[in-house]
Amino acid sequence: MKNFYFHNPTKVFFGKGEVEKVGKLVKEYGNTVLLVYGKSSIKKMGLYDKVVNLLEKEDIKIIDFGGIDPNPRIESIREGAELCKKHKVDVVLAVGGGSTIDASKGIASAALYDGDPWDFYSYKVESVGALPIASILTLAATGSEMNAGSVVTNFETKEKNGWGSPYTNPKFSILDPVNTFTVSKHQTGCGVVDALTHVYEFYFSNEDAYLNDRVCEGIMKTIIHYGPIALKNPEDYEARANLMFGSTLALNGVSGFAKDFEGFNHITEHVLSAFYDIAHADGLSVLAPHWMEYILSDKTVNKFYEFAVNVWGVHPGKDKMAIAKEGIKRVSEYYKSLDMPLYLKDLNIINPPLDEIVDKTLHRETIGRYVALTKEDVKKILTNAL
Ligand code: NZQ
Ligand code: ZN
Repeated sequence: MKNFYFHNPTKVFFGKGEVEKVGKLVKEYGNTVLLVYGKSSIKKMGLYDKVVNLLEKEDIKIIDFGGIDPNPRIESIREGAELCKKHKVDVVLAVGGGSTIDASKGIASAALYDGDPWDFYSYKVESVGALPIASILTLAATGSEMNAGSVVTNFETKEKNGWGSPYTNPKFSILDPVNTFTVSKHQTGCGVVDALTHVYEFYFSNEDAYLNDRVCEGIMKTIIHYGPIALKNPEDYEARANLMFGSTLALNGVSGFAKDFEGFNHITEHVLSAFYDIAHADGLSVLAPHWMEYILSDKTVNKFYEFAVNVWGVHPGKDKMAIAKEGIKRVSEYYKSLDMPLYLKDLNIINPPLDEIVDKTLHRETIGRYVALTKEDVKKILTNAL
């Protein structure tokens, strides 16, 4: 096992009714809050009114900033940061999914920066700090509620980049599974696929980390089990709670102890999203099974055998390669059962500019820490996914 350092400063309040605490919690960080949210979901579900009442009860001044897009734009970060500066905001509260939370992290950092916030996302400057960030999560998927990451798109340059700083972990996040009852079938499927892929990025690794792999398998099995239950009955509390807890653990450090992030699926998907503005997990759903098929070899067969048997319940046996292949087939079948896409054409991506996409994906000679892939490899995987 490799040496590792672990510190996750986000306080988590998990469970039914925990939202009631938001007023007092925010008050610990100041008297003026930027309330960041998406298009319409939190208003439709009544959460917006509830949060506003709880904040007002504590005499907290609210600066309202709704309209964050799925795949949040750099323009929103600029606008939100201006509001923070103008109204001397003390704390940024995100109420929504990963996009809203990611945007809040960018806004809170840009509020303390005089240049253009794209400087962070293009890795030109390191942030010098951020206003305190907090979140009320409404969609189980990204893990943004308990990590420092923020993924923002610049459609002008066709770039969707992930960035984070030592200041961008939320101070606290409220995770009430009831707030995810209204999540659509498609977004529920997306959440399942995103969380699973976060675990793949650590599970498929050359590091020797026995315990970590068992933790990863536990998270994957839980998500695989509860995904279809939540699809069938969106108000099944246990299903929503396990998906929420599972997706948080998938990317808060717990699934990645002593491991490197593999990277192929996420980096390539972010490029696809920057070109086509697709939902993040739609892209992952297409890429991961094709990537698995491509990298399966005598060198990786033991890991894929473990994956097939321990995660997907394939019967153990002597023919490890056949069992490994069966495991990958189960991934595709499962995604299909969730109505998630398996090919780019399922997303209406026809004749994509593969060379341009590959060029944007690889900034070095290879991509992927588990199996290093060249431009040619990536193009082949994308071609298989057409
Ligand atoms: O905009 P509203 O009206 O809120 O609707 C949203 C949006 O249309 C809706 N939604 C959210 N909660 C809902 C709900 N609808 C009904 N009921 C609710 N309770 O769902 C749609 C998608 O929301 P979004 O926030 O975009 O989804 P998600 O949480 O999957 O976030 C995706 C973004 O996170 C990034 C992705 O790249 C993408 O930009 N990621 C962030 C990561 C991180 N910070 O660590 C890691 C991930 O790998 C990922 O890259
Ligand atoms: Zn992801």
